[in-house]
Amino acid sequence: MKSFFSSFLVLLTVSFACAGEIIRIDTKDNSLVFKVQDQKLYQLWFGAKTGDKLAALPQGTAFPAYATFGTGEVNEVALRVTHADGNTSTELLFESVIKEESGPGIVQTRISLKDSFYPLRVDLVFKAYFAENIIQQWAEISHSEDGRVTLYNFASAQLSFKATSYWLTQLHGDWGNEMNLKESRLTEGIKIIDSKLGARATMYATPSFLLSLDAPGAETQGETIGASLAWPGSFQVALEVNRMQELRLLAGINPFASQYVLDKNELFKTPALLYTYTNGGRGQVSRNFHRWARKYGIRDGEKSRMTLLNNWEATYFDFNEEKLARIIRDAASLDLELFLLDDGWFGNKYPRNNDQAGLGDWQVNKKKLPNGIGFLVKESQKNNVRFGIWIEPEMVNPQSELYENHPEWVIAQPHRPPILFRNQLILDLANPEVQQFVFNAVDDLLRANPGIAYVKWDCNRFIQNGGSNYLPADKQSNLQIGYARGLLSVYEKVNKAHPGVQLMLCSGGGGRMEYGSLPYFHEYWPSDNTDAIQRIFIQWGGSMFFPAIASCNHVSTVPNHQTRRVTPLKLRFDVAMMGKMGMDLQPGQMSAEEFAFSKSAIATYKEIREVIFRGDLYRLESPCESNRASLMYVTEDKTRAIFFGFLLHRKVGEFLPGVKLQGLDPEKSYLVKEINMGPGKNSYLSTHGKVVNGSLMMTSGISLPLNNEYDSIVIELTAH
Ligand code: DGJ
Repeated sequence: MKSFFSSFLVLLTVSFACAGEIIRIDTKDNSLVFKVQDQKLYQLWFGAKTGDKLAALPQGTAFPAYATFGTGEVNEVALRVTHADGNTSTELLFESVIKEESGPGIVQTRISLKDSFYPLRVDLVFKAYFAENIIQQWAEISHSEDGRVTLYNFASAQLSFKATSYWLTQLHGDWGNEMNLKESRLTEGIKIIDSKLGARATMYATPSFLLSLDAPGAETQGETIGASLAWPGSFQVALEVNRMQELRLLAGINPFASQYVLDKNELFKTPALLYTYTNGGRGQVSRNFHRWARKYGIRDGEKSRMTLLNNWEATYFDFNEEKLARIIRDAASLDLELFLLDDGWFGNKYPRNNDQAGLGDWQVNKKKLPNGIGFLVKESQKNNVRFGIWIEPEMVNPQSELYENHPEWVIAQPHRPPILFRNQLILDLANPEVQQFVFNAVDDLLRANPGIAYVKWDCNRFIQNGGSNYLPADKQSNLQIGYARGLLSVYEKVNKAHPGVQLMLCSGGGGRMEYGSLPYFHEYWPSDNTDAIQRIFIQWGGSMFFPAIASCNHVSTVPNHQTRRVTPLKLRFDVAMMGKMGMDLQPGQMSAEEFAFSKSAIATYKEIREVIFRGDLYRLESPCESNRASLMYVTEDKTRAIFFGFLLHRKVGEFLPGVKLQGLDPEKSYLVKEINMGPGKNSYLSTHGKVVNGSLMMTSGISLPLNNEYDSIVIELTAH
């Protein structure tokens, strides 16, 4: 497990307060440059690598590096505190900078600042991932004042820009409709993207966004910044354009209703903001994030993933041993690698037969599964399939033994009726006793059943009007931060105790798509919406920041349970293949023809999945801009590529041109082969079976035989 905050550090340089000092944070293609002037720290530059040509930087581009309230600032600030004596101002002066190598190709720079009067310190810490062009920045705030300091604003990072115009692309959505891209031009004033949800924090908005300078965002060109806050809790991204047309970007934990009471000598470490710059458009931002994520941002990102069969849409809560054993056998005959048992397997006094009862009682339901989880594990093993299980350990139904025994563990406000969402309440993870309970629930289950290879960790509600029984009256506003920290510490403990178990990050669909949680998880569930057409859009949005290997895409039945749309099985497979593929249906209900197609599609997928998992993504035609969507994955050495194309909507009289491929080696020729056609089907791709020059396919394009609505195609390119 690769932790963000690794302890391996090799000292490179240390320097103390020095007027005019230049501090440079470099990656392969990016530079972030600071300057110390009058003891204060300023950002001189963030963008393309400057080398030594600092003199050539535009004049008047020194911006406060971490603006504070109370010493002349008139714009939104990174830090606002009330000191122990009531003073509301802070003035940070530069003290020192330390550079250390914190791993191969990673340099950590720690810039220490301290208040000019009070014993309050802020360290700005930057990890530069050289090859991946990602900078990871966070702040560490502490004090030794006589009393408590209250933090009102505590950004992870502040970045400033000077351009003629600024274009923000945000990712927003809701249940079943996650990750919609929306672009708007920033005008004077403040634009805020935020979440106040605490848990399931990326349900409506996400802390990942793109910023294009001087022109609207484009896929292959233009100055573009991509950034993502690594935090599972409420977040805020504030973008302020001032009267001088300068942009200040602040990102961090949402300060809304979360002023943090910081005790003497307590360390307040903000989550990290991850960011990259490129003049190669959104496509390059995504490739930078994906490469970084596979190495550092998701668990075991360089290892493979298993295909699976999930019983959620197959049975919902209505199952017994016999039904599940049949599904396990079917999974095996399709050559799927894992069976995932979803919600509904637990609770006895209050059986989990629907979403109204049982959450919190993590004992197997004896009526449905009289022979326990062990029986299902054995059935899976007998069939050469691994076994996985669903949990939602942060939650409790009022109808549960847990709630009867520990009503004080839920997040609620005294003198107010509890607020239910999906009939459930949320446990107070700011409380160490509750953290221990949640850890034990997972740990006991995994210890009792060592055959469990995979866990789907769900979270189906957020925090509303939070109050904690554990926190004292004067620290109630610490609750949301305490919850998120508690959750991360439980994740970490589970990872340490069960390093061999794979984890899926789920939150009523894609309510937890963020890099605070993903280092502990192998993959995430992007949406409960499994309709192939809408999934093309959802997965497209997710691909801006998250690599295909982490995106769980399931083939489900038709009419689709969420949209009622009927789509061809081939389309459903082709869409699911653009990531970590699984199925969510009863194979026993398929026709012999569908079964045969599925079996051959799964075999095909296994042959190409490593290219999808590890390849660089090139998005070619956006579903948001055209009736046809296409993208491709290309291996780093450019010897193999997999292309996907989809006709989303058929329009008479519309003649779509050939699609120009990207990312190939122009010097190489490739054998072009349509795949995943199903048994005995012929290809209508004009280049099928031919060897074609990479440069030609990138300049002239290839024409696609997609003529009818929902037609789709998968093409394999192999260097010849
Ligand atoms: C929400 C998840 O997103 C679904 O996949 C499923 O696991 C249900 N919860 C179960 O309650």
